[in-house]
Amino acid sequence: MTNEESVQVSELSQKVSDMSVDQSVAEQKITPWEVEGAVVDGVQMSVDYDKLIQKFGTRHIDQELLDRFERVTGHKPHLFLRRGIFFSHRDMNAILDRYEKKKPFYLYTGRGPSKGSMHLGHMLPFIFCKWLQDVFDVPLVIQLTDDEKFLFKQGLSLDEAYKYSKSTVKEIAALGYKPEKTFIGQFYKNIIKISKSITGSTAKAVFGFTDTDCVGRMFYPCIQIAPCFSTSFPALFGSKKDIPCLIPCGIDQDPYFRLTRDISVKLGHPKPALLHSKFLPALQGSKSKMSSSVDNTAIFTTDTPAQIKNKINRYAFSGGADTLELHRLHGGNPDIDVAYQYMCYFVDDDELLDKLADEYRKGTLTTGEMKQHSIKVIQEFVSEFQAKLAKITDQDVANFMDPNYPRTFYFSDSI
Ligand code: TYM
Repeated sequence: MTNEESVQVSELSQKVSDMSVDQSVAEQKITPWEVEGAVVDGVQMSVDYDKLIQKFGTRHIDQELLDRFERVTGHKPHLFLRRGIFFSHRDMNAILDRYEKKKPFYLYTGRGPSKGSMHLGHMLPFIFCKWLQDVFDVPLVIQLTDDEKFLFKQGLSLDEAYKYSKSTVKEIAALGYKPEKTFIGQFYKNIIKISKSITGSTAKAVFGFTDTDCVGRMFYPCIQIAPCFSTSFPALFGSKKDIPCLIPCGIDQDPYFRLTRDISVKLGHPKPALLHSKFLPALQGSKSKMSSSVDNTAIFTTDTPAQIKNKINRYAFSGGADTLELHRLHGGNPDIDVAYQYMCYFVDDDELLDKLADEYRKGTLTTGEMKQHSIKVIQEFVSEFQAKLAKITDQDVANFMDPNYPRTFYFSDSI
């Protein structure tokens, strides 16, 4: 990112945090454009997710909801749920009610590519969505917002953004999605209807736009909102207006969907339900998120084993003590240790993670050793992904994007 771009992005984000979050959280910048922990007495803090829940008016994903999820679906909750990585929701109980009654709903998520490859943070909602789709056997629609990145990212041409969209479809396919269950595309008619129901002053209040922002930016939220309504996908749902969606996404995307929930009833559609994730931290620690804009905060799906090793060894924030001697004496803190934190996202084995955390706290496991474990896990994840990606063809991409590709779901007969 150039200086000019970062000033523009941070100005826009500041406007959002000033306007949509009250002063007690104002220092914490969580917007679709920027994520930064609060600064207290000159010290930057980690993102405070409890405060976000309070300010955004969402609900904690608590044990009661997880138990109900398991009872209703017969599936042990995914590790992202068990470990509080997906930590917040809106109306998840209403979705479980529908599933119990065999009433239809669909999943919706999206990606705005500003680079040819995702980083590991981008993959979280897609990994989770794949699991949810397997559990519920419902359609998934994925929106690719190359238009958004063209409007919001200085210096990115529309052709370039479009090219990145195509490589994104391949990456999504490599995560195991099937075109029989998944549609990637969008529908213009609803975008226009939505644009008529949001005034300039609402867009300014929710997103902090000002008169100096181009009208494309003001219009963009209508595009991200449209897939929340089932009539955006006539090939999937005919003209049915009453099929709700469940949106797994990072918590930074919530402003779009708060706004959607406000206008849904007026437009005669059900409100979307949401599952929000915390951010995969930057290599430098949980005060900011892994981000495409700053290369050395992130591990990309295109990174080689050597690059992954180098990035983790060089940049991953350590929760260990200052010297080996002190570490052996007092132990380290796995809760702030980035190498350990990454494993919590990618290792399913709860016992192994507990053992590593325990040994780290006792000081018998060093920072170097923790990093070696983490490097191995991430290298394996990325190389397995790359092997799958190599097998995805242009025809696969076309199938995902074909609205008329034959698709079937458990509720096909009932809609
Ligand atoms: P984008 O491409 O910036 O991000 C795609 C998804 O990844 C999440 N994300 C992260 N999650 C955890 N840790 C991180 N470090 C991290 N970085 C990004 C984002 O929250 C998002 O869920 N405007 C959207 C595209 C979009 C969309 C949607 C997203 C269109 N429709 C519906 C979610 C749901 C965007 O630019 O996402």
